[in-house]
Amino acid sequence: MKRNALLIAMIVLTALTMQAQPRRNGGGKWEGLARTPQMGWSSWNRFQGNISEDIIKGIADAMVETGLRDAGYVYINIDDCWHGQRDADGFIQVDPAKFPSGMKALADYMHSKNLKLGIYSDAGTRTCAGMPGSLGHEYQDALQYARWEVDYLKYDWCNANNINPRGAYALMRDALRASGRPIFFSMCEWGTNQPWEWAADVGHSWRTTGDITSRFAGTPRQRGWGQTVLSIIDQNGPLRKYAGPNHWNDPDMLEVGNGMSENEDRAHFTMWCMMAAPLILGNDLRNMSKATCDILMNRDMIAIDQDTLGVQGLRYKDLEGLQCWFKPLAGGDWAFTILNSTEQDITFNLNWQDFNLTDDEVSHLSTNFDTIVYRVYNLWSHKQEGKTSKQNKVERKLVVKGHDVIAYRLTKAN
Ligand code: GLA
Repeated sequence: MKRNALLIAMIVLTALTMQAQPRRNGGGKWEGLARTPQMGWSSWNRFQGNISEDIIKGIADAMVETGLRDAGYVYINIDDCWHGQRDADGFIQVDPAKFPSGMKALADYMHSKNLKLGIYSDAGTRTCAGMPGSLGHEYQDALQYARWEVDYLKYDWCNANNINPRGAYALMRDALRASGRPIFFSMCEWGTNQPWEWAADVGHSWRTTGDITSRFAGTPRQRGWGQTVLSIIDQNGPLRKYAGPNHWNDPDMLEVGNGMSENEDRAHFTMWCMMAAPLILGNDLRNMSKATCDILMNRDMIAIDQDTLGVQGLRYKDLEGLQCWFKPLAGGDWAFTILNSTEQDITFNLNWQDFNLTDDEVSHLSTNFDTIVYRVYNLWSHKQEGKTSKQNKVERKLVVKGHDVIAYRLTKAN
């Protein structure tokens, strides 16, 4: 009897371990790396090209000391401008002035802190900042990253004018696979070629828009570029049916802590979680306010992003600037967010029966407020706020501040 129990335990353990290990799936990308959206930090939004070994190490230290690593942020990603020249054999080198100890030493540093190292390249001849691109060197670059023990590659799309996007991204996917090291593949072609339609087997995530800026609202500066939080939500929201475990829509890196107001930062972070977006921080972690840290560390909100059902939230209603979003969660829970896209505070009469909905597009789950009573948990005050009522009457008045959110987790009460 005892022996049987031991045997069963061993079989279950082996199965679980196999599941947790990244693996190659026949001919496709590395699997097992993106069961939930990736979490980490990237140098671009705050530092652009002004990066160095010291900055990156300092960020890694702060990631650990602040508790952000333990909240789930494990990738430290170096974006554009780490590059030196190619050597005589064509292998890319780091810029020795910026990274005197080299990339392998930096990867070792990350791994010693239970963090992972990310790097950046481009499918074209040059990166967006004019550094050497990977075109014609794909297998060699992937091999070099693997030798350095890099864990993540963001692959951009500048200076790639005449190449076929599907071919270019599949080529790097194959090169990463052939390198033998499980490397997360973050595609960054800004949604130009609708990667959501063809890249589920190519990348672990794909950008869906042009670059974000630290502006909440207003007109995007140029077509495609200079996006705002709201313009990105408008573009990324409708793509929900294409996202899911192992292949996520990426509405770009976070701008929390980079100059927007506290309520705008909170709304931005909430909406990225509602959209099951990658949570890649973009601020200077060595030097952030308590308010910024509290937003990024909200584990209740992170749990909405990382929920294992893996369904991107849906915009159910837009009531003159108040956007009502629902995200189905594992175990029958729902996340519900009211986003005030206007600058004025708005008073809102919350009546749960107005929100009887079925997610026809993805999960096929229904809220059923007529028959199910949920406990209401406020994801920002971290307090229970009663239950959803069965009666068809106005439940309560809420004031949603301008450019802010009210966000709840609903859990079945019976
Ligand atoms: C593009 C990308 C950005 C960033 C820069 C770097 O604009 O979309 O996220 O990586 O290139 O040059």
